[in-house]
Amino acid sequence: MSDQDSIFFRNFSILVVVLILFTIVLAVGSSIFQDKLVKNLEDRKDRSTIQASIAPAAKVNTDPNAIIAVAEVTEIPFDGSTDGELIYTNVCTACHGTGAGGAPKLEASAWKDRLSKGPEAILANAIKGFTGNSGLMPAKGGRTDLTDEQVKAAVEFMTGSL
Ligand code: HEC
Repeated sequence: MSDQDSIFFRNFSILVVVLILFTIVLAVGSSIFQDKLVKNLEDRKDRSTIQASIAPAAKVNTDPNAIIAVAEVTEIPFDGSTDGELIYTNVCTACHGTGAGGAPKLEASAWKDRLSKGPEAILANAIKGFTGNSGLMPAKGGRTDLTDEQVKAAVEFMTGSL
């Protein structure tokens, strides 16, 4: 072998070794990469389970009707008081104090015919609302958040002060 040949042979051997090493590096590298990729995908799958498990227990309900429904259940006006005078003064007097819209004032003459219907009938009209000959009585005087007991107390106060 000439010197040149042996130099070539050495270089060639080095090249072959380098290529073999490079192949090994690629093979090992790609298998590591693949493991990571698979793990990543699994993580992503896990993430949706994690997200579900850390999701807030309750969501704020932005449906306005639902909010009103909750308010009706949880917040009884006047701290739930069944003081008929208090409720009359705050709610009913707007019409019944002045006779606005044809509302009967607290005068015996304005109530004589009404009382003959019986206390249950006028209470039911006050709770459900009704339109008679003189005007419109809104359900619970427009305060539908009042309980039936509170309206009853107000009606009793009204009919008791004639
Ligand atoms: C927006 C005005 C208004 C408010 C507020 C109001 N009323 Fe009336 N109410 C009326 C009118 C008008 C009538 C008469 C309707 C008719 O006979 O035509 C009436 C009638 C009534 C009657 C007689 C029902 C019957 O069968 O004759 C009762 C009882 C009554 N209201 C109770 C109440 C009570 C209790 C409140 C408060 C919680 C209240 N009202 C608030 C307008 C009102």
